[in-house]
Amino acid sequence: MGIDVQKEKLTLGERLPAHVGIIMDGNGRWATKRGMPRAFGHRAGTERLRGIIRLSSDLGIKALSLYAFSTENWKRPKAEVEALFGLFMEYFTNEVEELHANNVRIRMLGDKAGLPANVRTSVIAAEEKTAGNSGLSLNVALNYGSRSETVRAVKKLAEAAALGELDPGKIDEDMLLSSLDTGGLPELDLLIRTGGDQRLSNFLLLQAAYAEFAFVDALWPDFSDELYMDSLRDFAQRNRRFGGLK
Ligand code: IPE
Ligand code: IPE
Ligand code: MG
Repeated sequence: MGIDVQKEKLTLGERLPAHVGIIMDGNGRWATKRGMPRAFGHRAGTERLRGIIRLSSDLGIKALSLYAFSTENWKRPKAEVEALFGLFMEYFTNEVEELHANNVRIRMLGDKAGLPANVRTSVIAAEEKTAGNSGLSLNVALNYGSRSETVRAVKKLAEAAALGELDPGKIDEDMLLSSLDTGGLPELDLLIRTGGDQRLSNFLLLQAAYAEFAFVDALWPDFSDELYMDSLRDFAQRNRRFGGLK
C-alpha cells in the first residue's frame, strides 16, 4: 500500500516538522536474525534510504539529517568499517544524479578530514553539484559526533578571535549554533531512533535542545514508509511548550 501524500500533507498541515533527524540503528541485528553477515544488513539499510528520502521530499519536509557513521563507529572491526565505506562510495556514486534531478541539496555533517580520500572527494562533488538546489536538504552524518562538531565550531570561533576578526565578548548562542555543521538549517523538530535503544549516541546534542523524540522498535531496514508516517503523525499531536506555558 502506498502513502497518499496529498492527504497526509493536508492532515499534518502546519504540524509538519521542518527538520527531522534519524538515527538509523539496527542493521547488524537485522542481518544476524537472518543468519547473515552484518554487512548484509547495512546494504538492506541503504536500500531503505530511497523511500524515506522520497517521502520526506514529497511531504515538503525542509531538512532530513541521517546518522550514517559516528566518530565512535571506527571502533568496529576493520572489515565492517570497510564494508560501510564501500556502501557510502556506492551511494554517492549512484544516487546523486537522481537526488539532483529531484532538487535535493546534499550536505555532509561531520569531520571531512577523517574520511578516506575517495569518500571525501565523492562527498564534496555531491555537495558542489547540488549546492544550488532548493528542495529537501539531505544531511548525511558521516564521521559525525556532536562533541567533535562542537570542538570544530569552537576552534573556528577561537581562530577568528585570535586573528582579531571577532570580539569574544560578542559570541552568542546564534553564533555558536551557526558555526555547527547544521548552520543555516531549520531547528531540529523531530529526532527518530530505530532499533529500540533510547539514547542519542553523540548525535545532534545541541540541536536537539527542544526536539521531540521518537524511539521506534523496528530495526532500520524494517522502518517502512508507514512507520515513518506514524512517527510524523505522533509528532503532530505533541504539545511543544519550549519552556513557556501553553
Ligand atoms: C546502524 O546499525 C548502522 C551503523 C551504526 C553504521 P548497526 O550496525 O549499529 O546495527 P546494530 O545496532 O548492531 O543492530
Ligand atoms: C548510532 O548507532 C550511530 C549510527 C546509527 C550511525 P550505534 O549502533 O553506533 O550506537 P550505540 O553504540 O548503540 O550507542
Ligand atoms: Mg547499533
